[in-house]
Amino acid sequence: MVKVGFVGWRGMVGSVLMERMRAENDFQGFEPVFFTTSQSGKPGPDVGMGAKPLEDAMNIDKLAEMDIILSCQGGDYTNAVYTPLRARWNGYWIDAASTLRMADDAIIVLDPVNRNVIDAGLQSGVKNYIGGNCTVSLMLMALGGLFEKGLVEWISSMTYQAASGAGAKNMRELLTQMGELNGEVGDLLADPASAILDIDTKVTAKLNDGTLSTANFGAPLAGSLIPWIDKLWENGQTKEEWKGIAETNKILGKTAANLIPVDGQCVRIGAMRCHSQGFTIKLTQDLPLAEIESIIASHNEWVKVIPNDKEATLHGLTPVQASGTLTIPVGRIRKMNLGPEYLTAFTVGDQLLWGAAEPVRRMLKIALE
Ligand code: HSE
Repeated sequence: MVKVGFVGWRGMVGSVLMERMRAENDFQGFEPVFFTTSQSGKPGPDVGMGAKPLEDAMNIDKLAEMDIILSCQGGDYTNAVYTPLRARWNGYWIDAASTLRMADDAIIVLDPVNRNVIDAGLQSGVKNYIGGNCTVSLMLMALGGLFEKGLVEWISSMTYQAASGAGAKNMRELLTQMGELNGEVGDLLADPASAILDIDTKVTAKLNDGTLSTANFGAPLAGSLIPWIDKLWENGQTKEEWKGIAETNKILGKTAANLIPVDGQCVRIGAMRCHSQGFTIKLTQDLPLAEIESIIASHNEWVKVIPNDKEATLHGLTPVQASGTLTIPVGRIRKMNLGPEYLTAFTVGDQLLWGAAEPVRRMLKIALE
């Protein structure tokens, strides 16, 4: 029986993966082997076949016994084990971390968008299948129809990224900051007659006095935002912004000759696990809005066009509704005053699902086919 090794299944992305695999009844037709970086020998999870002891995730011999390895352990782990393992192992490496994404011998997986690229890779013997950056995957799930039909001349994406993209500790820190700010003004808030500017003065003082918990974000996020994600890359871009053009084109199988320009600013905001994005899209042709909406809506079974009105937007196009679901709402779709070929749209998507766990879960199923 095919052996599948799971590494990093207990972390945030890994836990979402496990949840999804259980919900989809995925644990069948292969032998799962659970690895750990810290608890080797302790009982592993029972996914319907009894709990077996956990294996050591640093044991290259044991890893090399697997036919497929799925890692949600993160980039440092991939950096540590991939090269020595690959020197003697020819199995499928499926990874949620970014380390290998741009390597020539790796494919970025998002099968509702690039199943053709994945299939061509499997046929030609590619062994590395890596999940994409969350904002890129969520953009392509939302606008896959426009890309598929060659309608995107260029696209600018301005992002509103949730705390989860920075990690579990950051989600906790966001909530801690919210509580600390609230704690500053509890008495004033309880008194409806208190002056809002007094409340604001105290909140602003707390945001600036250096006592807010900011060890993970490096700055207040609650009551503020952080227009910088990841490290400085080149040309004033952050690495997160660079991934927009690099990964979008790689996922779509584009080369330098037919590259689609993608650029924008990536911003961290105080949402928990849903990334949002506002797009400016230069279309390759002027199409009626109804046709554009139909192309977007019919691309995959998860994208959902939200009518451009207040009621539908408030109740269907916010992180609140998308959180914990696979639905990719796209709304605020309209032609811009810039000209008939300029379209704007807004989308929301769960960063831990389509942004991380779901593409690799689905890739495992494809590899097992
Ligand atoms: N880099 C993303 C973020 C998450 O910081 O939100 C992972 O794709």
